[in-house]
Amino acid sequence: MAILETRNLKKYYGRVRALDDVSIDVDAGELLAVIGPSGSGKTTFLRSIAGFVKLDAGHVYIEGKDITELPPEKRDVSMFFQNYALWPHMTVFDNVAYGLKLRKMPKEEIEKRVHDVLKLLDIEELVDRKPSQLSGGQQQRVALARAIVVKPKVLLLDEPLSNLDAKIRLRIRFEIKALQQKLNLPTVYVTHDQEEALSIADKVAVMHEGKVLQLGTPEEVYKSPVNFFVADFIGTNCVLTLKVLDGRVKIGNKIFEVSSKETARMVVRSDEAEVLEARAEPGKDGLRIPGEIKGKLYMGSKYRYEIRIEESEDALFVNSGESFKIGEKITVFVPDGSYFVY
Ligand SMILES: Nc1ncnc2c1ncn2[C@@H]1O[C@H](COP(=O)(O)OP(=O)(O)OP(=O)(O)O)[C@@H](O)[C@H]1O
Ligand SMILES: [Mg+2]
Repeated sequence: MAILETRNLKKYYGRVRALDDVSIDVDAGELLAVIGPSGSGKTTFLRSIAGFVKLDAGHVYIEGKDITELPPEKRDVSMFFQNYALWPHMTVFDNVAYGLKLRKMPKEEIEKRVHDVLKLLDIEELVDRKPSQLSGGQQQRVALARAIVVKPKVLLLDEPLSNLDAKIRLRIRFEIKALQQKLNLPTVYVTHDQEEALSIADKVAVMHEGKVLQLGTPEEVYKSPVNFFVADFIGTNCVLTLKVLDGRVKIGNKIFEVSSKETARMVVRSDEAEVLEARAEPGKDGLRIPGEIKGKLYMGSKYRYEIRIEESEDALFVNSGESFKIGEKITVFVPDGSYFVY
């Protein structure tokens, strides 16, 4: 039995299906990343576990106990909100200690717990500051400290890194993963950022219009997407619209049978594509598409090319360390498993 179980959760706002039959389990120490575009139901899913949403149908269980009707404060769940707010008039210590004081914990125990968690997050020296004296990243850590100090049974994080700049996000990803493993807490982590999700999750749920389209390991959703939406949403891709003739599309050295009528779409994992000289033999199995360099951007360690191909109006955008000239004929090579046709 998983620690957190959600069964057939449904939540409608008028005609909007914010949650449409969602059932996901999260086990001890497991990190579930929930990704999907804006409005796909991610926050609603977290809020329904935390008890801030009255469900239209479905059940939430923690350690086998049905908590669907319990108020938020009785659920042993901590939620880190998308727009977290620290209390501006309170110090870091008081912000973090707040939940423990509510629980009427003895003073020494509170001091110890707060200091332990500040130490864990490497922000001990901020203990006497007010939120206005902290950077965005520091405030985010304090908010995280506040969520974990109460030792919840389940941790819910809604876009915890969204206010941080790209470099800090990359570093904190490692820290969150390490922290979550240390705490051994079942965690649901909501993010827009598919790369962030793949890199820290044990399981990934891809949501769209309230539904979970695919639930699997990061490798499964990346390598075996169940449909066009998932293929396109995960990874760094180019999408090519291709003409269908007699139930088939032809591109480069390959022919695919498709069920779509007039046009089909191909998702190409552009990070895995290579630009080769026109006559080069890649020596690996894959898709070879002849094309012509239309645009070139210098990116430091590599170039980014805009490539025109005969089979589609859409351009391919592929990075390469090699220098090619505008107008040069080349071949784009995409290894098998790194393109999907729908
Ligand atoms: N209280 C509410 N009243 C009416 N509609 C709501 C309410 N809360 C959410 N919705 C709608 O439910 C859908 C899902 O919203 P939700 O906040 O769960 O999306 P999200 O995936 O978290 O999006 P984002 O990535 O923008 O945070 C949206 O269409 C939203 O407008
Ligand atoms: Mg949200």
